[in-house]
Amino acid sequence: MAHESSYVPGNAVEKWIDDRLPIIRWSKEHLMDYPTPKNLNYWWTFGAILAFMLVVQIVTGIVLAMHYTPHVSLAFDSVEHIRRDVNGGRILQAVHAVGASMFFAAVYIHMFRGLYFGSYKAPREILWILGVLIFVLMVTTAFMGYVLPWGQMSFWAATVITNILGAIPVLGEPILQLLRGGFAVDNATLNRFFSLHYLLPFVIAAVVALHIWALHVPGNNNPIGVEVKNSRETVPFHPYYTMKDLYAVVLFCIPFAWFVFFAPDLLGHPDNYIMANSQVTPTHIVPEWYFLPFYAILRAIDFNIFFIDSKLGGVIFFAGAILVLFFVPWLDTSKVRSGSFRPVFKWFYWLFVINFVMLTWLGSAPAEGIYVLIAKLCTAYYFIYFLVVLPLLGRFEKPRPLPESITESVLAKHKAPVAQPAAAATTH
Ligand code: HEM
Repeated sequence: MAHESSYVPGNAVEKWIDDRLPIIRWSKEHLMDYPTPKNLNYWWTFGAILAFMLVVQIVTGIVLAMHYTPHVSLAFDSVEHIRRDVNGGRILQAVHAVGASMFFAAVYIHMFRGLYFGSYKAPREILWILGVLIFVLMVTTAFMGYVLPWGQMSFWAATVITNILGAIPVLGEPILQLLRGGFAVDNATLNRFFSLHYLLPFVIAAVVALHIWALHVPGNNNPIGVEVKNSRETVPFHPYYTMKDLYAVVLFCIPFAWFVFFAPDLLGHPDNYIMANSQVTPTHIVPEWYFLPFYAILRAIDFNIFFIDSKLGGVIFFAGAILVLFFVPWLDTSKVRSGSFRPVFKWFYWLFVINFVMLTWLGSAPAEGIYVLIAKLCTAYYFIYFLVVLPLLGRFEKPRPLPESITESVLAKHKAPVAQPAAAATTH
């Protein structure tokens, strides 16, 4: 959002810096004065919560790496050593492991918020695409991190998931060997996963910087999806949203701390406290909870689709489930952004949320009998939502009248609503 800079260097040193590298000016503009819609609700605090979690993961990860040994015969013991011998190690390790779960819980809320309020719509498509890219990087980083403790689930999850790549025609086998550093998951795999697990969070941080940049050009969307009309509809980011975000981070830390201090292993799998053994396969190989919806989609394709065998079909649907997110800005044809004004959309949206929760549950259920059938139906709805519902609904749904402006909607909360022409808040 273009606006005049209110920064005036306070002294000669600040002026000297400002003439050479206007970093203080930039910080004031983007971290303090940035005009933020005044009607943002608590769903808009998850961006800050995510930024906080990224820092937590990087800082705890760096300290963990000081005590961890990426070797098949030492990795498992080195994690035990951290938990038992290193000062504060039990908490450090728990914060990092629970932190991964909290990070994903926050990112799913952040993404579902965007899907409900149409935050991906023009002119915020690049912002959304960068977000999906961050999500892909997060999934990759978490998957590699889970292998590092070298427990039974680490080893077998790595084996099963890397095996998937082998299904890709022609290139699958070479990619698989390159990733594993050999024919099976072994020391070379552990080494490259450690190296990449250390690297990727910094790549994520860089993409987050672009994400925020892409946010600051058009400015925030808001719960009614009507663009800001004038400076009276915004407040400076600091102190209004810095304080609100800080408060939300503190609230978020309550369940986080509960897990860390009272149930640090609750979200993990008991088999991962047994050292990796390539000769003993666990009864059920289950990934971490945050991968379960996509794991359910992968397993739902247990039949050949024409000339595509079931294994490759599973990979295509698995990858497709994430790839489709990149195209959401163009798949959703509705001119109205916010789901609050779309009466039919709401039903399909909440069904999608329930469907996603069901997929999470199905990913942990055994791949047999009725579970497979339900997983197929849920997978079908996942894709139908994006490829059929969103494109068609925009054409046939009659949205509710939109408020003329943010100001009007804020004031209307205290008065009887006044019907307004729908054109006022279209994306075009
Ligand atoms: C490390 C992960 C991430 C961080 C640190 C992050 C950070 C932020 C921040 C600080 C904001 C502004 C405040 C807010 O709206 O909550 C934001 C907005 C946004 N983010 Fe993210 N984000 C992350 C991941 C994602 C992902 C995975 C997506 C989508 C796939 C996404 C999509 C969006 C969108 C669409 C907005 C604009 C929201 C609006 O103004 O309505 N973000 N993000």
